[in-house]
Amino acid sequence: MSFREDGAAALEWAAQYLERVGDLPVLAQVAPGDIRAQLPASPPESGEPFADVLRDLDEILLPGITHWQSPRFFAYFAVSAAEPGILAELLAATLNSVAFLWRTSPASTELEAVTLDWVAQLLGLPDGWHGHIEDTASTSTIAALAAAREATGRNVVVCSEHAHSSVDKAAKLLGLELRKAPADDDFRLRVDALELGDAAAVVATVGTTSIASVDPVPAIADACDAAGAWLHVDAAYAGSAWVCPELRWSQEGVARADSLVVNAHKWLFTPMDCSLLWTSRPDDLRRAFSLVPEYLRTSEEVDSLSEYGPALGRRFRSLKLWAVLRCYGREGLQARIREAVRLAKLFEGWVSAEPGWEVCARRHFSLVCFRHEGSDEHNEEIVERVNRSGELFLSHTRLDGRYVLRLAIGNERTTENDVCRAWEALRTAR
Ligand SMILES: Cc1ncc(COP(=O)(O)O)c(C=O)c1O
Repeated sequence: MSFREDGAAALEWAAQYLERVGDLPVLAQVAPGDIRAQLPASPPESGEPFADVLRDLDEILLPGITHWQSPRFFAYFAVSAAEPGILAELLAATLNSVAFLWRTSPASTELEAVTLDWVAQLLGLPDGWHGHIEDTASTSTIAALAAAREATGRNVVVCSEHAHSSVDKAAKLLGLELRKAPADDDFRLRVDALELGDAAAVVATVGTTSIASVDPVPAIADACDAAGAWLHVDAAYAGSAWVCPELRWSQEGVARADSLVVNAHKWLFTPMDCSLLWTSRPDDLRRAFSLVPEYLRTSEEVDSLSEYGPALGRRFRSLKLWAVLRCYGREGLQARIREAVRLAKLFEGWVSAEPGWEVCARRHFSLVCFRHEGSDEHNEEIVERVNRSGELFLSHTRLDGRYVLRLAIGNERTTENDVCRAWEALRTAR
């Protein structure tokens, strides 16, 4: 078989998968070890046809896939790999650029700068910020906090009790002390509880993982200014919503940040992985990471993006983001985000109108937190039952000590009918 024929078969597989993903059980219905038991323990001695790989993908691996592309994937933060992004991934793998220096892939380096400028414009961010792509928000936050430590010479990071665990991990990795500030009744960091005398950085979150609450960034920026601390804003999920002017209220104060992370792989329809990190202080980031051994010295007087983060080798991630931005445009992005928010609002209305059910946190974007009356165990059982059914997949959190269900809308294929089916399944499972 030739590359062309195998490629056509793989593309056909992808097209058929996207057509039928809504019919597959959302959460993989397998037990630990089931998939591994079906796979040969040793590699083949001689090469096999690519068609065998596709066959095993269907027969062995597919039952072990939890379908993040399903329109009824409502767990964590639901995501979409849009078709232009999928195709661009194929092209990026074909080129296999390793852009650690400008000269090792000028187009990758320059397209990355351009796409980050484009997204900054789409989201209404300040002009002139330096942007680059990391794999995940976890790495982006490590990079930002390393720069904060470098810039301030201090070793303390402060965030709210609702900040993502990636902040804990970054602090641990960088040897920083982490201090958690309490949150108010709306799950927002309490600025009056901040003690920043020795703080290198504060991480403010716009769209927290549990409830998508929005920290008071303007007041946090004031406190950072007064204390000389770095302000890192984690808008990994909600930052994409700023493409819609009516959701930009949640951006207030972000222009004063020293760094900002938004995950294009969360709500900007770009295949995993693509985390966008901007900074207004690129020199500090560079001081934290630039290390140029002899073999990487070149005559060009240009920046290499590997000098702004931990990794040397860099994939051509901007290609998939560029493809999505070009094929969807501002209007296409806005329409999809607005639809997710509309559906979440609709679901929230059904929950609050139904006796015995309760919405547990103010909804700002496309995430609804809710529970059924009764014990935590009862609510946990509802989640287990619907997830096991394969009809939908949702996750949970704990708020004020209570077990709470989370329904996150973010897949571009999700329709009103899918949300309706989810609600019916939940009502039946109660
Ligand atoms: C607010 C927030 N920040 C950071 C992260 C970590 O993202 P990543 O998986 O890209 O490291 C998440 C993950 O859901 C998140 O919700």
